Amino acid sequence: MKIEINGNSLELIVGDITMQDTEAIVNPANGTLMGGGGVDGAIHHAAGGELLEECKQIREEELDGNYLRTGKAVITKGYNLKALYVIHTVGPVWEGNREDAETKLSHAYINSLQLAKKNGITSISFPSISTGVYRYPTKLASIVALQAIIDFLSENNFGSVVLTLYSEKYYDVYEETLKNLTPK
Ligand code: APR
Repeated sequence: MKIEINGNSLELIVGDITMQDTEAIVNPANGTLMGGGGVDGAIHHAAGGELLEECKQIREEELDGNYLRTGKAVITKGYNLKALYVIHTVGPVWEGNREDAETKLSHAYINSLQLAKKNGITSISFPSISTGVYRYPTKLASIVALQAIIDFLSENNFGSVVLTLYSEKYYDVYEETLKNLTPK
């Protein structure tokens, strides 16, 4: 499903985020930026060891040795990936405080998009942040994710945003939400 918002496009696809050839892909990382399982592990594996080296450098230089806070985003090169850049963000762990989780998940999308725009990037692919290891219910996450992207695209001249969902099951949830958020 693909829609137009304020001259920008928003598309939902089923696919593997590591294979996307948008200028940037988004990595749902953890605050250490040292890699992990799920998409994070797959992106580091596909990008190669230089990605971890740049993440270490960012931890030391940009973050003064601290963790990347939940909802924030940083950018690296893409190395062996098709994408030129990786934007690393940290989604919230689902642990009951719904309002706090919504705010942080929304920030993860918006801060990633703002950082992309600041770097002149005009196409970006997101996975479904927080809905794997971090256990955010997919339906609730889809509402927050799509609303954040729609709000950003309504206010910015950006380009193309793709949500790369790992299976039909995730795709169907996101599609239903998108139809409800953009009634014809
Ligand atoms: N492409 C697209 N989507 C994928 C892929 C892939 N190759 N692999 C998994 N997914 C989907 C999952 O099905 C899930 O819906 O991406 C979503 C996010 O899953 P996770 O990678 O587990 O991300 P998250 O829930 O945000 O957890 C982040 O996991 O890997 C660690 O270091 C990471 O600690 C952090 C945590």
